[in-house]
Amino acid sequence: MTPREADLSVAARSGASGLLLHGDNRQGLARLAPTHKGRVRLCYLDPPYNTRRAMEHYDDSRDHEAWLAMMRELLGSVRPLLAPDGVVVAQTDRHESAYLKVLLDEMLGRDAYVTTIAVRMSATSGYKLEHATRTLVKNAEFIHIHAANLNLNEAAYEPLEDLDPHYACLLTPDGSRFGRLIADPEVRTMLEDAGLPARNASLVRLYGTSIAFRSWVLGHANRICRSHTAPAKAQAAFLDGRLLADEPGDSPVVMPFPPGRQDYIIRRTASGIDQLIPLSLKVRPVEVPGSCDRLTLTNLLGDWWDGFHLDMGNVRLEGGVPFAKGKKPERLMRRLIRMFTRPGDMVLDPFAGSGTTAAVAHKMGRQWVAIESGPQALSHVVPRLNAVVSGQDQTGISRAEDWRGGGSYVLEHLA
Ligand SMILES: C[S@@+](CC[C@H](N)C(=O)[O-])C[C@H]1O[C@@H](n2cnc3c(N)ncnc32)[C@H](O)[C@@H]1O
Repeated sequence: MTPREADLSVAARSGASGLLLHGDNRQGLARLAPTHKGRVRLCYLDPPYNTRRAMEHYDDSRDHEAWLAMMRELLGSVRPLLAPDGVVVAQTDRHESAYLKVLLDEMLGRDAYVTTIAVRMSATSGYKLEHATRTLVKNAEFIHIHAANLNLNEAAYEPLEDLDPHYACLLTPDGSRFGRLIADPEVRTMLEDAGLPARNASLVRLYGTSIAFRSWVLGHANRICRSHTAPAKAQAAFLDGRLLADEPGDSPVVMPFPPGRQDYIIRRTASGIDQLIPLSLKVRPVEVPGSCDRLTLTNLLGDWWDGFHLDMGNVRLEGGVPFAKGKKPERLMRRLIRMFTRPGDMVLDPFAGSGTTAAVAHKMGRQWVAIESGPQALSHVVPRLNAVVSGQDQTGISRAEDWRGGGSYVLEHLA
């Protein structure tokens, strides 16, 4: 399809859920000023990083002051478009990251600064090893988050590869007693089959090597617990007479704490009151490289996001549009969009590149605006979005979102 045909076919669709602006983002943002004021829930900024290296698709070697001036002007135009609970997420690497952080503080308010996420985008391998004695090789990129009123839609979790050895207790199916996980007959058999001694440390090894044990753990996660001293506030609340009569022992008591809230499993020990924390609190569906969600043990994520270097190996295949350098994994965009928006919210990307943000936002049922000045708006973003709309694009997060096509978008050329 030629760009002109693509232009006509997409513009002809009605009920657009997206708007692709082909042209400079200064013009694009001016175009949005009257129509999108106060509507943008997430603005994702992925500008040229100013690495001063030759790039196939865009100029990445501006003068530092000119780069900052460009970003200052851009932020000035983005600001009025933000919803009261809007979030600005800006990704760069070590070249301009610190300067951008200060500029974002200045333009959006220092009080609006939430955090900076370090995201692992590349491994130390290949040609990078040649530079290992001249510099510290790049693994991380930095994502600054600014929001005047942060309202996280969903916290992010990462898959846990290891079983925490502290989860060594097993409740009986009726929850009335508990013993050692290692003493369960099925677990013992699996340990014996693997030639491992019946010790707690063996459970961690077994979890790392046996698919059968992994699925057994997931299936029994509500009965596998770790035990630790209950917080003082909870102890005081539980010492209400009911427990004082109990002898120390293996019979736990289930109580809601605080009253009316989540169940708290406790037991009396010789030294006080212990809380039992079920492993099931850590079982959640998470995105994994290859982008299909699976139920697994997880950890609540903080500001260190590992694992995206694994996605980078296949990123050129995503959306069917190879885009050397700068293209982001769909899984990363999905995580950000999930955290900061709900279906129907407006996502803005003034540096669209190959159209990752638009494609992901579309598959996740968000409204979006993407702006791109380079020819890739037509050579990459248009075919990528057409494949998304038709349902042909089954790469990236399509499986995780069960994407089958739908919606539409409008392409507008800025004069
Ligand atoms: C790092 S790339 C973005 C990659 C994108 N996130 C992806 O996953 O494909 C930056 C893009 O910003 C575009 N760009 C740079 N300056 C621009 C401007 N003033 N207006 C619109 N687009 C611009 C470049 O042409 C380039 O395609």
